Amino acid sequence: MQPSTITPRDRLIVALDLPGVAAAEAMIARLGDSVTFYKIGYQLAYAGGLPLVRQLASAGKKVFVDLKLHDIGNTVARGVESVATLGATFLTVHGYPQTMKAAVEARAGSDLKILAVTVLTSYDDNDLHAAGYRLGVSDLVEARARQAQTLGVDGLVCSPEEAARLRQIVGRQMQLVTPGIRPAGVAVGDQKRIMTPARAMAAGSDYLVVGRPVLEAADPREAADSIVAEIVQALA
Ligand code: C5P
Repeated sequence: MQPSTITPRDRLIVALDLPGVAAAEAMIARLGDSVTFYKIGYQLAYAGGLPLVRQLASAGKKVFVDLKLHDIGNTVARGVESVATLGATFLTVHGYPQTMKAAVEARAGSDLKILAVTVLTSYDDNDLHAAGYRLGVSDLVEARARQAQTLGVDGLVCSPEEAARLRQIVGRQMQLVTPGIRPAGVAVGDQKRIMTPARAMAAGSDYLVVGRPVLEAADPREAADSIVAEIVQALA
């Protein structure tokens, strides 16, 4: 799948950050065909939501499993194989070389794509130092992006602010998936470094991950449609 062949609607990934399966199913029904791609993360996965991956995939939707795996290579590989059998499209792993290598090898022969998280966006240079790292955030992000590319990782999760620079580093082959998206006029919440859908696309994002601006909208379907419209405009 080359980035240029992705339809504008498939570029919107709605994060199902909801407390349980019933709430998720109600939101999915409400969004109908306005959303084709969903993200399932810790909250829903650990509340019984993993079977939704297979259910959504059988219904023709794409699913991003955001479980940010990191363990010894063998354990990562077995986990990746299990997620691949669910029919997921994207799975996140932390950007450590052993982990990325194991994940890429284990997804071979399936449709699953591996996304690496370079450095969590809640970390600044002081946090990295406190965790024992020598490099600051921008150097570590760059080093891990290069390692990810060398190891055959399919894409990177990054803040929209990092997208332009990472695009220069990794070229067009890797897919850039960016959360931290806020359409103009929508509450920012706890996100610090945000961009509108149009600006994030212009910065080089392939996929936009959006949670609360859709989930908490008075009309979630309309909110999703208007983000897709902004993506269409940005690509024109
Ligand atoms: O509600 P909101 O649009 O802020 O949701 C963004 C989604 O993207 C959440 O599921 C969040 O966990 C995820 N995410 C993020 N920032 C990152 C990485 C992931 O907000 N740096």
